[in-house]
Amino acid sequence: MPPLLQVDVDAERLKAEIEQLATFSETPAPSVTRILFTPTDLAGRAYVKELMADAGLSIREDPAGNIFGRWQGSGEGSIGTGSHCDAIPHAGRFDGTLGVLGAIAAVRALRTAGYTPKKSIDVIMFTSEEPTRFGIGCSGSRLMGGAITPETLDALRDDNGISFQQARTQAGYEGDLADVVLAPEQYDHFVELHIEQGPVLEANRLDIGVVSAIAAPASFTIDFRGKGGHAGAVLMPDREDALIPAGILIAAAEKLARDSASDDSVATVGIVQVAPGAVNSIPRHVHLAFDVRDTNLETRESIISELQRIAHSEADARGLSCEVNTINSDPPVTTDARVCNVVADAATAYGLGHQPMVSRAYHDSLFIARKVPTGMIFVPSAAGISHRPDEYTSPEEMANGTAVLATTLAELAL
Ligand code: HGY
Ligand code: MN
Ligand code: MN
Repeated sequence: MPPLLQVDVDAERLKAEIEQLATFSETPAPSVTRILFTPTDLAGRAYVKELMADAGLSIREDPAGNIFGRWQGSGEGSIGTGSHCDAIPHAGRFDGTLGVLGAIAAVRALRTAGYTPKKSIDVIMFTSEEPTRFGIGCSGSRLMGGAITPETLDALRDDNGISFQQARTQAGYEGDLADVVLAPEQYDHFVELHIEQGPVLEANRLDIGVVSAIAAPASFTIDFRGKGGHAGAVLMPDREDALIPAGILIAAAEKLARDSASDDSVATVGIVQVAPGAVNSIPRHVHLAFDVRDTNLETRESIISELQRIAHSEADARGLSCEVNTINSDPPVTTDARVCNVVADAATAYGLGHQPMVSRAYHDSLFIARKVPTGMIFVPSAAGISHRPDEYTSPEEMANGTAVLATTLAELAL
């Protein structure tokens, strides 16, 4: 077997581009906030398209706002790579962006090395991976992978009542979302470069994670409602305090995940809204949002059903109403063996330490993998920190991941 092609990556240029993209933010540095179809998101999109064009990629955008930069191959077949550039409020600058800007840098490095692909290579910026605006994550890749219908996605509404369809149209993305769904064999393989967002690579002093599986994310909301009333005048036996079952449930979520038979069980209550929100008024409406994940579907589902059982029982005991809404409930995926082998061989060729590992965060790959043999490349996150302004991956670590991505793409696009 001929040796794998190796490339040189301009780490300083990639770092500068990551820093430049981070300036398109609704919150001051070092944090990054870039929410789907907001002015900062549109500015970030324009910058990504500039870099794609500069790398000689031909650009197209689909009705959902996914952006594709194509390096046309000489023959049949296509390979996809990419990630996302949207960012949750007060996030870091590397989550997702490395998978897009790193892929563009990989194309530059391959061109400099004189490589020409037989299969076309698409660098993809998925329209939004974070659930911030419309409550569900991976809207672009979920649609491409057939995990949400065009009608359901277009009908989603943000906190201001604006639908996904209105928001995408205002951003200039018109057309039928049905055209976004991946055709069979549209891609022969897909590879995503991403920061690990966890502590494993750094703790093991390794450079590259070869992702073997992506954990199964689920999220749901619970609304408790009661009559509320005056905090002084309503005596305890007469109360319907909507915050009490919420408190019981938040503690139960932690206990169920900690006591789970699976080490990968995690449960988080990231949103708690209390109305009317006055110190001397008994809470009459409490809205909670839960995020429950596991690599093991069975244990995830048992945690969720126990939480929802407790919610109904505690609400009944207090004369409260309890409304449960499932936002998403996605299965885990296993990555493609061939892609994993090529990534591992590429890391070895560069003399980079690597190991197989699970992704506990979800990614666009989780949905692309439903239709395309998919793999992921991780690079270290300092102290495992992510979704925080102090998220950090060094230029050298970014260049390592980009070089492994370039070599992997070159091999898969032969
Ligand atoms: O929540 C996640 O796992 C991803 O970072 N959106
Ligand atoms: Mn994220
Ligand atoms: Mn991400």
